[in-house]
Amino acid sequence: MSGNPGANAKLSPSAFEVIARLAKSESGISLTPAKTTMVQSRLRGRVRALGYADFDQYATFVDSESGGGLEERREMISALTTNVTHFFREPHHFEMLRDKALPILREKARAGGRVRIWSAGCSSGQEPYSIAMTILEHAPDLAQKDVLILASDIDRQILDKAKTGIYSEQQITGIPEPLMKKYLYKSGSGFDQQYEIDPALKKLVRFRELNLLRDWPMTGGFDVVFCRNVVIYFDAPTQAALWPRFRKILAPDAMLFLGHSERISDCAHPLFKSIGLTAYHPAA
Ligand SMILES: C[S@@+](CC[C@H](N)C(=O)[O-])C[C@H]1O[C@@H](n2cnc3c(N)ncnc32)[C@H](O)[C@@H]1O
Repeated sequence: MSGNPGANAKLSPSAFEVIARLAKSESGISLTPAKTTMVQSRLRGRVRALGYADFDQYATFVDSESGGGLEERREMISALTTNVTHFFREPHHFEMLRDKALPILREKARAGGRVRIWSAGCSSGQEPYSIAMTILEHAPDLAQKDVLILASDIDRQILDKAKTGIYSEQQITGIPEPLMKKYLYKSGSGFDQQYEIDPALKKLVRFRELNLLRDWPMTGGFDVVFCRNVVIYFDAPTQAALWPRFRKILAPDAMLFLGHSERISDCAHPLFKSIGLTAYHPAA
């Protein structure tokens, strides 16, 4: 290792190729050479932290199967993932959850059934906590039954943040004022002002590390799945391989919500029917 950390090093095409290949195989994230500057800026901190002189040394290290290379791949993926999210993002899905899904799920839970919701690619937690708020606000009795929100992500660091349920003033935009008053506690003051999620919401959410490309340990029967603004970073074949897997873990009348610029690819369309904007039921 060199003692000359690569503060000004440039990402060479060959190092980019290694990083892009690993990003694809480890996480599904597809990086074209047009993303070189982004990759360079997101990974510069890793090159520096490891004391490498340039990205070529870093690429050789992260590509190795031993001596910490495998562990570094996690750090690399964490640095490369885009974690942008906010509370009640794409609000029409929360309206569908409230108006279409929750009335049915209430009945199911009252009859002794399990209710399972999955936020796949949950980032820092705003999505699963928005789901939990919708449940507590519009179907509080459901919260007393067998209901769980699985919130998963590939990025361990962002999950640690999600689990704390602590957000800055800027991060809580999107939460309607009455819900803010009801489900968030202020802590600190001035520039240190923070907001913490009510334990009653946290109780409904289970955070787990899960790579969508690998095996899913869950057996199925999900009533609602939010997988929004995640597959947009995958190429078409990687997306196409996911749709049948989602179909398999959905309960018969379940809902699947995707992000605003995501669509189920044509080849998988017979498996789903559209029920609204980027919202799907499994086809019979
Ligand atoms: C832009 S955020 C979306 C957050 C939230 N779903 C939303 O719509 O606001 C995308 C998330 O997908 C996660 N992600 C990327 N590749 C993944 C994979 N292969 N398996 C699981 N999560 C992944 C990233 O770590 C990131 O937190």
